[in-house]
Amino acid sequence: MKVITSVKDMQAEIIQQKILGKSIGFVPTMGFLHEGHLTLIKNARKENDLVVLSIFVNPLQFGPKEDFSTYPRDFERDRALAESEQVDYLFYPAVDEMYPNVPSIKVTVQERTDVLCGKSRPGHFDGVATVVTKLFNIVMPTRAYFGKKDAQQVAVIEGLVSDLNFPIQLVAVDIVREKDGLAKSSRNVNLSSEDRKQAPVLYKSLCAAKKAIENGERDSVKLTSLIQEMIIAQTSGEIDYVEIFSYPQLQPIEKIEGRFIIALAVKFKNVRLIDNLIMDI
Ligand code: PAJ
Repeated sequence: MKVITSVKDMQAEIIQQKILGKSIGFVPTMGFLHEGHLTLIKNARKENDLVVLSIFVNPLQFGPKEDFSTYPRDFERDRALAESEQVDYLFYPAVDEMYPNVPSIKVTVQERTDVLCGKSRPGHFDGVATVVTKLFNIVMPTRAYFGKKDAQQVAVIEGLVSDLNFPIQLVAVDIVREKDGLAKSSRNVNLSSEDRKQAPVLYKSLCAAKKAIENGERDSVKLTSLIQEMIIAQTSGEIDYVEIFSYPQLQPIEKIEGRFIIALAVKFKNVRLIDNLIMDI
């Protein structure tokens, strides 16, 4: 595995490999790798000649009061994990390498950002779309792998690829969970032990809503109330949102039908957790 920190070196390697006709699978991450990331890498490994993993904690997608400085980082551990997953290139640029000067251009997301995480994190998806555009131009992948854990991110990146005509196939991978149902996240390590005990209630509440749907419930308000009540009764977390939208359009729906997402975000002290369930009925 080659570790590359320079944009120019990364591009030069990829151009060489493309001349040789190699397909490139790309997994963009912010590091502190866990099973969720490793599942994306495994998928990329199966479907491509070469795998590029990027690790870059992107300051542009964090708000001023968010956890950029406390976001967990452990490069040596990540490097060993990447190596054991047979990653070919680990792209690990410094902030100055990615943003050497005040940007003259930024990508602005026009749709699907006034809801869910876009609503509570203003500018977040512009930061994601900007860095992903740069990463796509640096890595020039054949396929790029994203997790459904960040379902709104998947929808936004689909829009980016389609509107800006990137010749890239997006692959959306299912959520990987802990044994107790908590969606794997780099941020889970920052939960206090008490909050960690309560956090699985998020997924349990989504499962309770799923069960209610399977038993015939179709009213969005009733379903979101059911989830909210469970979270309030069984955790000390503060609910940011619990919403049901059509997916991937992310339009509000009163009565659920077709393909939809039940998404939630809950803040435990300094850790904000998200989870979701995408269903088709
Ligand atoms: P990060 O949070 O590190 O996540 C990297 C990728 O791993 C994302 O596509 C995310 O959806 C996926 N992922 C995280 N937890 C997962 C889980 N439990 N199951 C399945 N997939 C999971 O998302 C980002 O980084 C950044 O916004 C990035 C796209 C790298 C741009 O900076």
